[in-house]
Amino acid sequence: MNKPQTFRVKSFGCQMNVYDGERMAELLADRGMTVADEGADADLVVLNTCHIREKAAEKAYSDVGRLRREDGSKPLIALAGCVAQAEGEEARRRSAMIDMVVGPQAYHRLPEMIAAAAEGRAGVDTDMPAATKFDALPARRRGGVSAFLSVQEGCDKFCTYCVVPYTRGAEISRPFADVVAEAEQLVAGGARELTLLGQNVNAWESDGRDLAGLIRHLASFAELERIRYTTSHPVNMGESLIAAHGEIGKLMPYLHLPVQSGSDSILRAMNRSHTVESYLATIARVRAARPDIAISGDFIVGFPGESEADFERTLQVVDAVGYAAAFSFKYSPRPGTPAAGMDGQVAAEVMDERLQRLNERLQHHGRAFNQGCVGKTVDVLVEKKGRRPGQMIGKSPWLQSVFVETAAGIGEMIRVTLTEALPNSLGGVLAEPIGSRVVSV
Ligand code: SAH
Ligand code: SF4
Ligand code: F3S
Repeated sequence: MNKPQTFRVKSFGCQMNVYDGERMAELLADRGMTVADEGADADLVVLNTCHIREKAAEKAYSDVGRLRREDGSKPLIALAGCVAQAEGEEARRRSAMIDMVVGPQAYHRLPEMIAAAAEGRAGVDTDMPAATKFDALPARRRGGVSAFLSVQEGCDKFCTYCVVPYTRGAEISRPFADVVAEAEQLVAGGARELTLLGQNVNAWESDGRDLAGLIRHLASFAELERIRYTTSHPVNMGESLIAAHGEIGKLMPYLHLPVQSGSDSILRAMNRSHTVESYLATIARVRAARPDIAISGDFIVGFPGESEADFERTLQVVDAVGYAAAFSFKYSPRPGTPAAGMDGQVAAEVMDERLQRLNERLQHHGRAFNQGCVGKTVDVLVEKKGRRPGQMIGKSPWLQSVFVETAAGIGEMIRVTLTEALPNSLGGVLAEPIGSRVVSV
């Protein structure tokens, strides 16, 4: 096979995979390859996969199968991401169509693997090298209005259901200077909002600074308007970060803080290292610092041993917090995790029924939150064109999509009065002429 000229990167899973996918695309472009046109065959396809639940992992292989072309040929295929890390050599035994298997800490070596694969030498690289991949990646060039920036990777928490500590390795923080340098590149490329990413982003620390210190520094960039971070772990929600929510105007009033279950005995079995009470106390402190903050969360129903009473405690937490948004999942046993071997696995129908009840409750609170925004006048960062002529779509401080008719361009901040709550978005009208707002730090 000739050396590939065109490529496509497809990312699944969490925002960190989206970030990694962007960086792989930049790396390949830096080595002279171009993104395949929409609808056209690519010479190389990178499937950047997720291993978190069984369905996500199985999807990786069905997606590989679908890359077979009508004439029987196929592109070069690189399996990247967490399935690649978890399965290694095994992935190529499961599908002979896969040419390369490359883990999340090794993708900076893709160009060499591609050159070898083009000559018929398949490769597997799931090393977690001591030197960070970030040093070997080209500088950021692309950049939308809203950009992701990985600052922390890996996880040492070992929740008993979760594969991430195995697929992403130990917790590491990127050095302060590297993060700042990348932030500067992104802002120079047009980013007005940065979302700092990490599996436990609030465990980030470098040179005596914690995440609050990093956010404080980034807030001094004149052209950067908004800062967000995700995902946080309740035990790393320190006082300085909580205080930052009350002190830094550019830090958006939104916190994704997964609780997983509202039952202490289930939390213990999950090895979550927080209780319902400590979680609710953290939320109360965050709200005291920033009363208008929106809280979102993750939930798992049907963890082994979860009784009806345990599940009802989860519903109570949902009501107590009043989440603005949430992700809910049925427990999926994952190979190699302690929970997969636990007694008391919950029947599928019970999980289905609990998930439905949980979702109804979450939707109720999500709708109430959106409804409560109607009538408020807020800053909206314009991100893209809407479907109707003259309509633009932007984000509210609370991460809701807002539809508004305006002549403002992408990347502009506009004042919008929210007039209508739709199921997954809000409608609004311009509150002030464009350009009348003085940006304050
Ligand atoms: N580091 C983050 C994200 C982990 S993965 C955190 O700790 O929150 C995102 C979510 O997937 C988790 O919060 C959890 O709700 C869910 N999840 C993880 N493993 C799962 C499993 N085996 N089955 C079902 N949901 C799972
Ligand atoms: Fe997984 Fe728990 Fe780590 Fe989150 S904190 S990545 S759920 S092990
Ligand atoms: Fe999935 Fe890996 Fe993210 S398992 S959720 S892609 S860290």
